[in-house]
Amino acid sequence: MANSTASAKRDGFSSALGVLAATLGSAVGLGNIWKFPALTGSNGGAGFLLIYLCATLVVGLPVMIAELTLGRHARANPIAALKRMGPPGRPWWLVGVIGMIAAFLIMAFYSEVVAWVFAYVWKGLEGSALSSDPAVTQGAFTALVSSPWQSLLWQWVVLLLIGGILLKGVSGGIEAVTKRLMPLLFLLLTALCLYSLTLDGAGAGLSFLFRPDFSKVDATVVLTAVGLAFFKMSIGMGTMMTYGSYFRTEQNIPLTAGRVMCADLAVSLLAGIAIFPAVFTFGFEPAAGPALLFITLPAVFAQLPFGQLLMVLFFVLTSIAAIGAMLSLLEVPVLILHERLGWPRHKAIGVCVAVVAVLGAACALSGSVLAGFLLFGRNMFELMDFVSSNVLLPVGGILVALFAGWVWGKESFTHAVSNAGELGNTRLARVLVVLLRYVSPVLILIVMLHGLGVL
Ligand code: TRP
Repeated sequence: MANSTASAKRDGFSSALGVLAATLGSAVGLGNIWKFPALTGSNGGAGFLLIYLCATLVVGLPVMIAELTLGRHARANPIAALKRMGPPGRPWWLVGVIGMIAAFLIMAFYSEVVAWVFAYVWKGLEGSALSSDPAVTQGAFTALVSSPWQSLLWQWVVLLLIGGILLKGVSGGIEAVTKRLMPLLFLLLTALCLYSLTLDGAGAGLSFLFRPDFSKVDATVVLTAVGLAFFKMSIGMGTMMTYGSYFRTEQNIPLTAGRVMCADLAVSLLAGIAIFPAVFTFGFEPAAGPALLFITLPAVFAQLPFGQLLMVLFFVLTSIAAIGAMLSLLEVPVLILHERLGWPRHKAIGVCVAVVAVLGAACALSGSVLAGFLLFGRNMFELMDFVSSNVLLPVGGILVALFAGWVWGKESFTHAVSNAGELGNTRLARVLVVLLRYVSPVLILIVMLHGLGVL
């Protein structure tokens, strides 16, 4: 069977630093800024952190390494990769199809949250939405969410920007952009952290984040930690397989994945250190999700010296984090259409952006025109989030782990992960195979059944 051929001209990342920036760019996203700090604070601080670290090491890292290795070995999109590497006639390539569907669903709601972030950069520049009264900031956010045109237009801005970057290709677009943005992200974040630590609420903020409260740690907390590890590392839908297909042959995959894991964790911790001291200084409740970002923080900024500047910097920082994640999400279906249907890249990008715009409109409008339209008790925004995070990603993750551990097998996996023995990491590879075969699938299955309310 003629699968898409990995032509000699296939685009890819051009330097070790570029690989790191792009992969880290995918992992770092909205998850670091409002998921991680809030979940850590409300689930027992340092206790949760410890469990999250274990989950990242035991589930996240092995699956990430597996996806990158499979992708690099096949040098193709996830569907073609699994078709080529699996036994003939077995439908393992469906995992790539599930991944593509998940990518579209995640982008539909993720792009709308990014749209709000972009809108808040604008509002920051204007000085609107900045008030010490949370009722006023709440009103500003509600006005944005319930305006169909504002929601749609900002989403289109996001999609055009991401599509435009992808038009420049893998090394000229994804790599060039993330290589510049990632250092800027660390710079801005560190500056905001240092500022935040000078505030009166620093002690209370840090103790919210780090005080170990093991009495809060129960089964649900463990499951939350595993779920977060999974989402944070962009695994379970072929993102890392796609990026792996752009990795250089001599790249040390376990080392790269380990560095991405550490840097991603650092971004999460710094975000928490930047946010909570400020929140506690003014006696606010550390709310989670959109409320923290779009309602509480503007009220905090309004009371700080240079508040308007801080607001702009904070939302620029969040935009940067979100751009790298969006690039990695959109690249998955773009590469599939490009390689499998032979479409030129610009056509694949145009079609994918249009599909996301249509699905995304359902999410963008779920705060206004479609507010009353519920399926299974959820609006479109919530439904796409739920189906992708709780069904498609875990299913994809389990199947990738099983494929790498059992189907592709120990020998091939060890050979590929050690760069044909050159890295001398066979003992590590052996541990990874055990994790992929037994530990990850079981843990992910438990998390998934819990997410679906079966357990
Ligand atoms: N990791 C990103 C974040 O934390 C989100 C993300 C990007 C993602 N690509 C993904 C999540 C693929 C799951 C699968 O915001």
